[in-house]
Amino acid sequence: MATTTYEASYKKYFGNRFENISKNSSDEEIRHLYDKWAADYDKENAKAGSCYRKPLAECLDAALKEAFPNTLKDQLKILDAGAGTGMTGIELHKLGYTDIHALDISQEMLNIAKEKGVPYKRFVCTPLTEQSIEEFETGEFDALISAGVLVKAHVRPAAFVEIIRMVKTGGLVCFSLRYNEVDDYKPKMTELEKAGIWEKLSSKKISYFESKDLPSDAFGFVYKENAAAGGCFNKPVAECLDSTVHQVFPNAPKDQLKILDAGAGTGLTGFELHKLGYTNIDALDISQEMLNVAKEKGVYRRYVC
Ligand SMILES: C[S@@+](CC[C@H](N)C(=O)[O-])C[C@H]1O[C@@H](n2cnc3c(N)ncnc32)[C@H](O)[C@@H]1O
Repeated sequence: MATTTYEASYKKYFGNRFENISKNSSDEEIRHLYDKWAADYDKENAKAGSCYRKPLAECLDAALKEAFPNTLKDQLKILDAGAGTGMTGIELHKLGYTDIHALDISQEMLNIAKEKGVPYKRFVCTPLTEQSIEEFETGEFDALISAGVLVKAHVRPAAFVEIIRMVKTGGLVCFSLRYNEVDDYKPKMTELEKAGIWEKLSSKKISYFESKDLPSDAFGFVYKENAAAGGCFNKPVAECLDSTVHQVFPNAPKDQLKILDAGAGTGLTGFELHKLGYTNIDALDISQEMLNVAKEKGVYRRYVC
């Protein structure tokens, strides 16, 4: 029924833009969609009455005040992942955040944000996937916000691992999800929660569109990266290996170095290695049950029991 998918209404405001877009669309197709849309994106969104950026930015603002009560807002470094034309950046700036950085798959969208003078410190054009983004260091950000980007046709749930890598321990991850797509992301969100990687701070209904014929609400989530995720030794062990690897193979890209995590258990060390940029890691363990829990973290290529 059109009322459940809002297909006809989306068409009314955005034309045929989504016609050939599905959860199987490639990064190239998504980039093309937004490159073509960039010049008209703000105008069409205004017409449709889309209004989720301010409430989502406010969710993050409230959580940041709690998580970092003694840090000035301009000292909190925030990544706007899927920043587009910068509408969420504008809201963050209004709230007092000045150390904001933009990532987007579409250079044309970022160009519009630049032309508008949205005060991002960096504009990085790259897709957000499960792959490590070399422009951003592990734990570089105090928080990451992703407004209207975690849509199943754009970013797959596996990308949560990379989102988490870029945010420091104790930092926050804030994102919106469409009501009808929560179930697509929920399993990965829950897996990460069960594995102790992050904890949910809030999930709340936020306004989505003002137009009566489009969905009025979406969900806004805020998660906190759990300090306990790396235990007390997994992180230093991974860092030791990292610094030795750097000395022995100074020119080798981290994703080309093949690592065996022997006695991988539930994958805590693998997770730390992944956060450091290693993506070619295999897990070996005597216990299949331990490996089953490790699988939920999604950081190993092979699991050998
Ligand atoms: C609906 S727009 C939202 C833009 C902005 N956050 C806002 O609220 O106005 C989705 C944005 O995500 C970007 N995007 C889609 N898939 C992406 C991906 N895999 N990695 C990075 N950016 C992506 C698009 O280029 C677009 O700018």
